[in-house]
Amino acid sequence: MERELLISREAIKKRVKELAEQISFDYEGKEPILIGILNGVVFFFADLVREMNIPIKMDFIRAASYGSEKESSGKVRVTKDVEIPVQGKSVVLIEDIVDSGLTLSHIAKNLESKGAESLRICALIDKAERRNIDVSIDYCGFKIEEGFLVGYGLDYDEKYRYLPDISILK
Ligand code: IMP
Ligand code: MG
Repeated sequence: MERELLISREAIKKRVKELAEQISFDYEGKEPILIGILNGVVFFFADLVREMNIPIKMDFIRAASYGSEKESSGKVRVTKDVEIPVQGKSVVLIEDIVDSGLTLSHIAKNLESKGAESLRICALIDKAERRNIDVSIDYCGFKIEEGFLVGYGLDYDEKYRYLPDISILK
């Protein structure tokens, strides 16, 4: 399938550093737990935490909602849960892209029910136009209007994740 470059690796690097600096500033002295939503988040997560200048802890959660289609199935299931106790902790949930908001709101509820003291959300890409469920993104890398994106962890049917830039799939 054809692809059109949307966000270059240089632009991603610059923006990720800015997000890391902002989160570091906001969580100074708090040692937050950063929780990445697998699999799409891997490169963003790895780049983000290495640009931070405060101590953090890290864990991952995995949820399934998409099949091989471009649209959400409407169902979310946690298939790998967090392992570090989040009770009483400051948690920052790290997501690659927020589309309908379904995945994120489900996972946010899951973490709140585990007693996280505070919960903020950081997403590399916000597709705000398509939001069905109200989730507020505290740290947003890029806002896009439409299109299906691949690269830098984002896949279409498990393809294209390894690409270093973000492109629109035609
Ligand atoms: P939501 O539950 O509809 O917000 O969908 C969020 C999840 O769907 C993300 O974590 C991605 O895994 C996937 N997703 C949504 N939009 C895209 C896209 O444009 N490219 C690749 N994956 C996407
Ligand atoms: Mg994802």
